[in-house]
Amino acid sequence: MSLVKRLDLPYMGDGRGGLVAVEGLSDVPFEIRRVYYIFKTEPGVSRGFHAHKELKQLMVCVSGQCDILLDDGKSKENVTLNSPKNGIIVESMVWRELHNFSDDCVLLVMASDPYSESDYIRDYSEFLEISNV
Ligand code: TYD
Repeated sequence: MSLVKRLDLPYMGDGRGGLVAVEGLSDVPFEIRRVYYIFKTEPGVSRGFHAHKELKQLMVCVSGQCDILLDDGKSKENVTLNSPKNGIIVESMVWRELHNFSDDCVLLVMASDPYSESDYIRDYSEFLEISNV
């Protein structure tokens, strides 16, 4: 099964412009308990480099574009996010790296839980050990 789970978002744009609304538990398969966004990323900067033990996320590039590398410890896939009308679900226990942010990139992330440092796996060799048992 593909690591990249694309999700088309409910688009309600009309002659006035674009509008997307996302509801937890119906449009995304989890309750949305936290929202954050990454923007004005400095040139050449990559982010992420971690996996989550439990957290699930929906990532949407609402402006500009960036590349997301997903890795489940067995295979890796790259996806470019460049539309406010769709996104990707990133499941738990998936290593992610965020690369190639455009100057105007705003990456919106909707997450299934509040921030918890103990949910992070920030060491790649530890991630491989845990994911390959
Ligand atoms: P960090 O985990 O380094 O971001 P990324 O992995 O996406 O590059 O987060 C940077 C800092 O912000 C770090 O000190 C943790 C904090 N933070 C929160 O307090 N709440 C959050 O929801 C997020 C995503 C980060």
